Amino acid sequence: MITINEHYLKLQASYLFSDIAKRVNAFQQAHPEMEIIRLGIGDVTRALPPVCVEALHKATDEMAQDSTFRGYGPEQGYDFLRSAIAKNDFQSRGADIAPDEVFVSDGAKCDTGNIQEIFAADARIAIPDPVYPVYLDTNVMAGRTGQHNKGRYEGIVYLDGNADNGFIPELPAEPVDLIYLCFPNNPTGATITADQLKQWVDYAAANRAIILYDAAYEAFIRDDSLPHSIFEIEGARDVAIEFRSFSKTAGFTGTRCAYTVVPKSLTAFTASGEAHSVHSLWSRRHTTKFNGVSYPVQRAAEAVYSAAGKAQVAALIDGYMTNAGIIRDAMQELGYACVGGENSPYIWVATRSNSWEFFDMLLGKAGVVCTPGAGFGTCGEGFIRISAFNSRNNVTAAMARIRQALA
Ligand code: MLT
Repeated sequence: MITINEHYLKLQASYLFSDIAKRVNAFQQAHPEMEIIRLGIGDVTRALPPVCVEALHKATDEMAQDSTFRGYGPEQGYDFLRSAIAKNDFQSRGADIAPDEVFVSDGAKCDTGNIQEIFAADARIAIPDPVYPVYLDTNVMAGRTGQHNKGRYEGIVYLDGNADNGFIPELPAEPVDLIYLCFPNNPTGATITADQLKQWVDYAAANRAIILYDAAYEAFIRDDSLPHSIFEIEGARDVAIEFRSFSKTAGFTGTRCAYTVVPKSLTAFTASGEAHSVHSLWSRRHTTKFNGVSYPVQRAAEAVYSAAGKAQVAALIDGYMTNAGIIRDAMQELGYACVGGENSPYIWVATRSNSWEFFDMLLGKAGVVCTPGAGFGTCGEGFIRISAFNSRNNVTAAMARIRQALA
């Protein structure tokens, strides 16, 4: 008799964004006349930067000729992209990262979800609350938690984020092995300073723990004093893995390209205390289970680092950040305290009410989709997340409708 992985039965309902999509589709069917504006899932709406489109066309032409055709590429990514990433995203900011420490992939969601499998089944996991649900759900699937009880899984060390700590959790009160951090934060939009991040790096070093640092939204940082990468912090090479994505930065949500940085100096241990290279483990996993991102897509990602690419990406991000400002101002004018939206495309709004009810109310009265804070954890109750990823017209119209609905 084939039996299932029963840890899956502990998972709550469906994946948050699928759940929301189902509710929105049901609402649309019931109200076909309503033009719904989606500020829920953080999915980009603007076209790819022209340099990326040119690179895609050129690489596609290469694939059309036997003489320039490429079959399987290196699973970790082509050298041209890994070098461009190491130079532009890290070395230029003083972070000592080499091209062969970069693993190109098809998404930060997959990487942040998959990384846990190279660590022990009994690793003690610290996860912020509220949190991007992938970190938690993938550990539930792997059997690192007990049952779900009163909104939380047994066995997880939750790191509470709230208005009092500005959604920057305090260090764990008990020793943990693996710590998930995301800054600029999804969902709250909160950011971390270099001094605050240094405390986490020091904690990890003292506890022989590893930080899984999701920096998918670093390109939205406007404040020059904030770190873009954990590897800007002294000592991080020995305690951290970083995840990055072209999805939100360069509009690649449908094109798919991301990367994970695993320094060669990072070690984890056997139960008997023998040190092993995490880079080797991830490399083994990546080459065994992944066949690389397609050549044209890697060329498109490389184009992001050209002078024209940098300018085009900056313009894209400026557009979304202007949206973020419009959303934040509108919600604050309506009397709601907000976090985020200044160095992040997400605005975290204190509704002081049940977040699913607020979601239903905004959808029903304004035809605007947001994300209920409760979907990100118990500390998210009383908040909603509004995404700045949409056209200026839609964002302006959504805010006008919300003003009317809440008046
Ligand atoms: C979000 O809305 O939180 C993100 O778009 C989800 C993702 O990147 O997978």
